[in-house]
Amino acid sequence: MEVIIRPDADAAALLAARVMADHIRTNWRIVLGLATGRTMEQVYDLLCEMHKQEGLDFSGCVTFNLDEYIGLGATNPHSYRYYMNQHLFSRVNIEMRRTHLPDGMAKDLKAECREYEDRIKSYGGIDFQLLGIGVDGHIGFNEPLSSLRSRTRDKALTPETARQNCAMFGGDPNKVPKRALTMGVGTILEARHVLLVATGESKAEVLLKAIEGPITSMISASALQLHPSCTIICDEAAASKLQGKDYYHWIFDNEPEWEKYHSGPLMTLMGKN
Ligand code: GLP
Repeated sequence: MEVIIRPDADAAALLAARVMADHIRTNWRIVLGLATGRTMEQVYDLLCEMHKQEGLDFSGCVTFNLDEYIGLGATNPHSYRYYMNQHLFSRVNIEMRRTHLPDGMAKDLKAECREYEDRIKSYGGIDFQLLGIGVDGHIGFNEPLSSLRSRTRDKALTPETARQNCAMFGGDPNKVPKRALTMGVGTILEARHVLLVATGESKAEVLLKAIEGPITSMISASALQLHPSCTIICDEAAASKLQGKDYYHWIFDNEPEWEKYHSGPLMTLMGKN
């Protein structure tokens, strides 16, 4: 696992978008695993900007989203399908038929989950998985006690998650669906590369547990410590409780693979470093 700390949320999103864009450029037929949430909005805005300004090409990409609320269809503005169409798919040159999310309206949810796993396999697995993190440590909707080997399935959401996500439902936690379909922790761990992005003080405590705490099903994100190729990009606020902060800073400043991200045209354009 590699932890990279950037000064603020803008710089963290920009680095995440640039890393992801580089993966897309080097593998035209890339299979992307995608996430939702407020953190990702900025990352997707930047990818759209790169598409517009630098011609970043999504035409070969296949995408699989982590999760979807049960009972919300594609035209429901609170569904993740709607979110993805709004924030990314309708703004870049990706083919809609190559974009996949679990169907929260499926009559047979178990069959839908099995079929989702099969579809991922049929494309050769996920090359690059983007992740956010919930305040309860979830990745996707893998709430506490999710098996570290779990596969795509339906999952009951915790009241904490309802509170965290209620802003998108007019601020009322009771309006947040109680259940969702989500890729499992085991599914996520099979992606060839994983990039988790976390920003803001509200993520500091959980990031400490996920990165420097023991591997436990109480914090699904801690399972990423087992992943052979995992990068965490966070801002100073989210990193504020990490013990190894100095070392993580050293990595970004000194490791050759990060050198090309120390400057760049879009970063200059946005006044970031
Ligand atoms: C939802 C998603 C998660 C995401 C989380 C983070 O719960 N299911 O995949 O990691 O939101 O949200 P935010 O970026 O808004 O903090």
